[in-house]
Amino acid sequence: MSNIKNKKILLGITGGIAGYKSAELCRLLIKQQAEVRVCMTQSATEFISPLTLQALSTKPVHTDLFDHEAEAAMGHIELAKWADIIIIAPATANTIAKIAHGFADNLLTTIILASHAKLYIAPAMNQNMWQQPQTQQNIQQLASLNIKTLGPAHGIQACGDTGMGRMLEAREIIAELAKNTPQTLLTNTTILITAGPTQEALDPVRYLSNRSSGKMGYAIAKAALQMGAKVRLISGPVNLPEPIGVETIKIQSAQQLLTSCQQYAGDSDIFIATAAVADFRPIVQSQQKIKKQDDRDKLTIELTKNPDILATISHDFPHLFTLGFAAETEQLITSAKKKLKSKKLDMIAANQVGDNLGFEKNDNAIELIWHDGQISLPMMDKQNLAFKLLSLLAKHYRNCNAAY
Ligand SMILES: Cc1cc2nc3c(=O)[nH]c(=O)nc-3n(C[C@H](O)[C@H](O)[C@H](O)COP(=O)(O)O)c2cc1C
Repeated sequence: MSNIKNKKILLGITGGIAGYKSAELCRLLIKQQAEVRVCMTQSATEFISPLTLQALSTKPVHTDLFDHEAEAAMGHIELAKWADIIIIAPATANTIAKIAHGFADNLLTTIILASHAKLYIAPAMNQNMWQQPQTQQNIQQLASLNIKTLGPAHGIQACGDTGMGRMLEAREIIAELAKNTPQTLLTNTTILITAGPTQEALDPVRYLSNRSSGKMGYAIAKAALQMGAKVRLISGPVNLPEPIGVETIKIQSAQQLLTSCQQYAGDSDIFIATAAVADFRPIVQSQQKIKKQDDRDKLTIELTKNPDILATISHDFPHLFTLGFAAETEQLITSAKKKLKSKKLDMIAANQVGDNLGFEKNDNAIELIWHDGQISLPMMDKQNLAFKLLSLLAKHYRNCNAAY
């Protein structure tokens, strides 16, 4: 498994002879299942055609800062924010100097200045250019800015000289990127999380719901993101800010939650269901506000069962590693173990609620149960609990996948 799989990598190409090696680099990055976009300086287009890079990356190649059409599609700031990693290969002496001094006079240098992505440069130049004190000072300046220089190598150069300045080979650059990209516990996984309550409408202004605050699900989403996963959060109505970096989908009813889960389950690896789904919904949803009517003392509302989302998703998408939450007010462990089996889950987090516990609180305690074991996670802050829970989940998920 590659550390750069699913990483968003912007490949910057500048105007050097080694530009021909960028095509191979682009191809190998894509082979590693990285998402690749290419940005070329004007000089770079003299050495290798943008069309070649467009064909290899299957995406438009970005060359102009003042290109109205490109700005309307994916503008320079969006590209800067999009990238997890920027690799400039080849990096000319000219571009290295610009980066070292904070210039932003073309699309590539502007993106670099606007981005927080990890930046790598693979210098390629004549040995005299490389040895000049200006270039060496610029390289030192880059190191002090936490910009990593890969290479250059020693060897025969295009101009006939022998010395330092050859760009590393594409496979060497890939190896360096992989080595420097940390493998976190949930790297290369896509996690689908449900959170919060559902609201089952009685009429246009009233609904049946529950006390779930969504805090546990949101904490898990944030922790999963920090642990390297791509995270989608399907959330019922809650008073929490959308976690930055998480794709959040808002729903109201159990049926909407199911539809949304079905839409995203196919391309997810792990499903974590923390949402407190209403077991029942009104059979009739009145189109108008139900009137008080002075002549009646009672109102009977007939309810029908909602779909069991956890059981449905784990049954219909057997590739998923599923973690369910069982919120119970009594017989916690017994009923959680029952659910683990009957709903065909991989793990279940049994969660005591009621009596001032669980819902709406910032702390929580759970009993995490799987098919041949269980562990108590004592009362703690929900964010800490989320990290502990996901570390255990990741271990089981990896073991489970290693078996295939
Ligand atoms: C044939 C040719 C080959 C070049 N090769 C290199 C090179 O390998 N490394 C380099 O730093 N500059 C090289 N240059 C000079 C750069 O193209 C020049 O400095 C240019 O301004 C770089 O622009 P850029 O950094 O915006 O891409 C070469 C120029 C020519 C004409």
